Amino acid sequence: MSKNGEVSASVIKRLPRYYRFLGELMKQGTERISSRELAALMKLTASQIRQDLNCFGGFGQQGYGYNVSDLHEQIGKILGVDKKLDTILIGAGNLGRAIASHINFETRGCRLIGIFDSNEKVAGKAVAGATVRHISELEFFCRTYKPVIAILCIPKANTQQVAELLVSLGIKGFWNFSHYDLSIDYEGIAVENVHLGDSLLTLTYGVNHILPAQGGEEE
Ligand code: NAI
Repeated sequence: MSKNGEVSASVIKRLPRYYRFLGELMKQGTERISSRELAALMKLTASQIRQDLNCFGGFGQQGYGYNVSDLHEQIGKILGVDKKLDTILIGAGNLGRAIASHINFETRGCRLIGIFDSNEKVAGKAVAGATVRHISELEFFCRTYKPVIAILCIPKANTQQVAELLVSLGIKGFWNFSHYDLSIDYEGIAVENVHLGDSLLTLTYGVNHILPAQGGEEE
């Protein structure tokens, strides 16, 4: 934790992973776990886990470890999974449809309340049990239902303009899949820029550093 009491971004980034692992342990019926066992499972160190959880006041007991369901619940509260923030998705193309259909928003503190697209042929279609609305309805919808999170699944070229409009309509957080990093321009607004390609590059780096050098070099 920093001197002014703020939890560091790197700790916050690890919380969803704790939450996921603890959820799995609950499903398996594990009631308690030591920091050493949890560390082995998550490929972290026990002291890292204790340090992370101490940022929020500890939760563990000397000689007992952690009560799995309590810790899961506490981390869930810190993450805000009990809040159900109203969320909209912009761009009901291949990616937008996949996200709307496959992400369990409710278990992650969000509720998907509207899907929008600028294409007349896409508007009116059903996606994930909802009817896609035309983007022209966005302003009225936001003023009426006051969503706070927007998921952007639109081409890079339109992202800046759409994000500016959404900020003016009260959006406080972007889950941004467009290949455009919004955080540079929006201080005070929470942004998660997601680039699946970056994750793949991290993997290719890893594999390339394990495999012997390849390429047509002749001996
Ligand atoms: P797509 O072409 O299937 O869908 C894009 C949809 O956005 C279309 O239905 C289009 O009508 C709509 N749209 C465009 N401008 C809009 C606007 N101003 N307002 C509302 N709707 C608008 O494309 P796809 O495959 O779904 O990809 C969407 C974007 O996500 C692309 O820019 C792509 O590069 C990016 N992408 C990002 C990934 C990541 O890891 N961040 C992974 C895959 C795609």
